[in-house]
Amino acid sequence: MFTKLNFCCFLLTYIFLCLSAQYVPPYTEECRSGMYPPNGPTFKGNVPWYTVDLDLPPSKRWTNIITDKKNDMASMIQAIRDLADAFVPSGKLIELVDHDLPLMVNTLPYPFNEEIKGVASVSGVPLGEVMLFNIFYEVFTVCTSLVAENVNGNLIHARNLDFGLFMGWDIKNRTWIITEKLRPLVVNVDFRRNNRTVFKSTNFAGYVGMLTGIRPHTFTLTMNERFSLDGGYIGILEWILGKRDGMWMSFLTRSVLENATSYENAKALLSDTKLLAPAYFILGGNQTGQACIITRSRTQNLNPLELDLKNGRWYVLETNYDHWKAPLFLDDRRTPAMKCMNQTTQANISIKTVYDVLSTKPVLNKLTTYTTIMEVSKGSLESFIRDCPNPCMPW
Ligand SMILES: *[C@@H]1O[C@H](CO)[C@@H](O)[C@H](O)[C@H]1NC(C)=O
Ligand SMILES: *[C@@H]1O[C@H](CO)[C@@H](O)[C@H](O)[C@H]1NC(C)=O
Ligand SMILES: *[C@@H]1O[C@H](CO)[C@@H](O)[C@H](O)[C@H]1NC(C)=O
Ligand SMILES: *[C@@H]1O[C@H](CO)[C@@H](O)[C@H](O)[C@H]1NC(C)=O
Ligand SMILES: *[C@@H]1O[C@H](CO)[C@@H](O)[C@H](O)[C@H]1NC(C)=O
Ligand SMILES: *[C@@H]1O[C@H](CO)[C@@H](O)[C@H](O)[C@H]1NC(C)=O
Repeated sequence: MFTKLNFCCFLLTYIFLCLSAQYVPPYTEECRSGMYPPNGPTFKGNVPWYTVDLDLPPSKRWTNIITDKKNDMASMIQAIRDLADAFVPSGKLIELVDHDLPLMVNTLPYPFNEEIKGVASVSGVPLGEVMLFNIFYEVFTVCTSLVAENVNGNLIHARNLDFGLFMGWDIKNRTWIITEKLRPLVVNVDFRRNNRTVFKSTNFAGYVGMLTGIRPHTFTLTMNERFSLDGGYIGILEWILGKRDGMWMSFLTRSVLENATSYENAKALLSDTKLLAPAYFILGGNQTGQACIITRSRTQNLNPLELDLKNGRWYVLETNYDHWKAPLFLDDRRTPAMKCMNQTTQANISIKTVYDVLSTKPVLNKLTTYTTIMEVSKGSLESFIRDCPNPCMPW
């Protein structure tokens, strides 16, 4: 029922956008080149770095970040309230969130329950709304992720994070309301134990799961949402109703980044842990040939795809569709991204050319909030706030 609703919503939004567009902008373009180092109208700034000390109690870990980002968080939460009120007038929806979701925070596994409470208390945002914010990412994210191996055997893992689909379209500005509010919340985080880096991530302030991260010299990991007709949101519904044997997807990625010690170890955990909803995990290792797309149902790793250099597969790339099926025709970011990767060739793949690929419309679109590029051999993660000035595809 939920997935059907979601699909109808998708179609209606599309039709609405087509009608409101009045003209057809050039949604796609030739593969970009010379975009790196980032500059110009698609680059909105560097992402600030913060440290999270894993030796602190969970409720204290996010204090520095939230203290800095309090106002941006308040502004984003207000936008979500306005949206909720537009759907269900008289504030009834947010009333429900404020009343019921706090009870559920306690059902989350440690340390996520404590961290979310810490975020709420420092930000002053009601607990239920912080909880909602943490659930949202599991539901409204569409993305492009890739891992490529260069001729020296080094792996480059990169992603565009596109967030805010259906979250209110600003007709006048031709922007997604929540996407605009999220850009100021993007932070890079260095997670430390004994004052040594365990892993690094690109995050939204206030969100305690992980969508993008690196365990330096060991592995790199990104997650993309998988819309699935079988079991899409059923698990989340079950969890709300009290059946809680699956794991939140972005909590799993966080646990893997924090505690897995090798590519193989990470791969096994991402493949076998029972989930609340389907997902794609894009994992890169630290040696030649080590990269894969893990397509998850709630219980299974379906049809894994790995690098296969002997047969010419020097990169793996994932948007939001199963790699063995055609993407939805309304939302094909895979073909343009692969076209640009193929055009670049393995001989010329680098941070610079990967950034070019991720800067080409519609791989870059109105939902794109950030681009992150990671190199496992250097232990590096860099990310950039993105924008897609008109004309640009809404997603
Ligand atoms: C639309 O853009 C204008 C100018 O950039 C800005 O002042 C205004 O706040 C934007 N509207 C919304 C709803 O974000
Ligand atoms: C942690 O390490 C950084 C450099 O990596 C150093 O500047 C800082 O003083 C250290 N902090 C503590 C508490 O040891
Ligand atoms: C990682 O493992 C440690 C030690 O077992 C545990 O305390 C911590 O909660 C784990 N982290 C996550 C995110 O699960
Ligand atoms: C790759 O990861 C493994 C497992 O953590 C580690 O033993 C090995 O030293 C790493 N190799 C490189 C080249 O960093
Ligand atoms: C890119 O190259 C791969 C491998 O040769 C091929 O399977 C794929 O169809 C190509 N895609 C595009 C869009 O050119
Ligand atoms: C790869 O880079 C070299 C040197 O920069 C350039 O001469 C060559 O045309 C490039 N090849 C492709 C396929 O872009």
